[in-house]
Amino acid sequence: MARRRRLVVGNWKMYGRLTSGLVLAQDIAEQAEAARPLNFDIVLCPPATLTWAIGEALLGTPVMLGGQDCHTANHGAYTGDLSPAMFVDLGCRYMILGHSERRYGHGETSELIAKKVEAAQLAGLTTIVCVGETAEELKAGSTSEIIEKQLRESLPKKVKTANLVVAYEPVWAIGTGQAPEPEDVVTVHKQIREVLGEIGETVRVLYGGSVTPANAEKILAEEEVDGVLVGSASLNADGFWAIAEKCQ
Ligand code: 13P
Repeated sequence: MARRRRLVVGNWKMYGRLTSGLVLAQDIAEQAEAARPLNFDIVLCPPATLTWAIGEALLGTPVMLGGQDCHTANHGAYTGDLSPAMFVDLGCRYMILGHSERRYGHGETSELIAKKVEAAQLAGLTTIVCVGETAEELKAGSTSEIIEKQLRESLPKKVKTANLVVAYEPVWAIGTGQAPEPEDVVTVHKQIREVLGEIGETVRVLYGGSVTPANAEKILAEEEVDGVLVGSASLNADGFWAIAEKCQ
């Protein structure tokens, strides 16, 4: 089958103020503009507070916008939460869900994540569902078991294949500068496709965790890797673009 269109996503996490965020987004958009036509997709997921301003700055550029997390409902008495429809209003096309910083930092269960995925997809967003083992689970040799369980439980029954991206993000590789060997990434990506069953060949599977301009080429040399989900290296326009270019 033809190669799946690659996708590079910048997850800014809780970094970026109005001015610095705008400058960063504009710098990335400029590089993307200069490289038109792009044969891969590029998405920025800034903190929710910057979504409106950055959305305005990205209008007409090839760079798309996403959110980092959302609620299961489109409106309601949920202090501090943001709904999928709200992100759609601001021009978002993507939504990261089930990130380990939500699973472990906020106690989100796979069951809750599945509900979020369903709601976000219903609102028209493409969901980037994150799964990954911890250092202890890796050490115990239970990576495949964990991946399968998390993936099965984090997807709603009526998952929309066209709106689904899976990101393999080993928890031990996030923010540590320690990325797995590309062949180990390939093993997990193949397993993710197996768990997905007949939709496995069409769903894009990304890798995330300490992706840098230095290791992106090696990781993206693998056909199994449909793109990358980048944290800290996405906070530098040149560095992020150097990674994005490897998606060609
Ligand atoms: P780092 O690239 O900073 O390791 O973060 C990865 C990540 O969590 C992306 O969602």
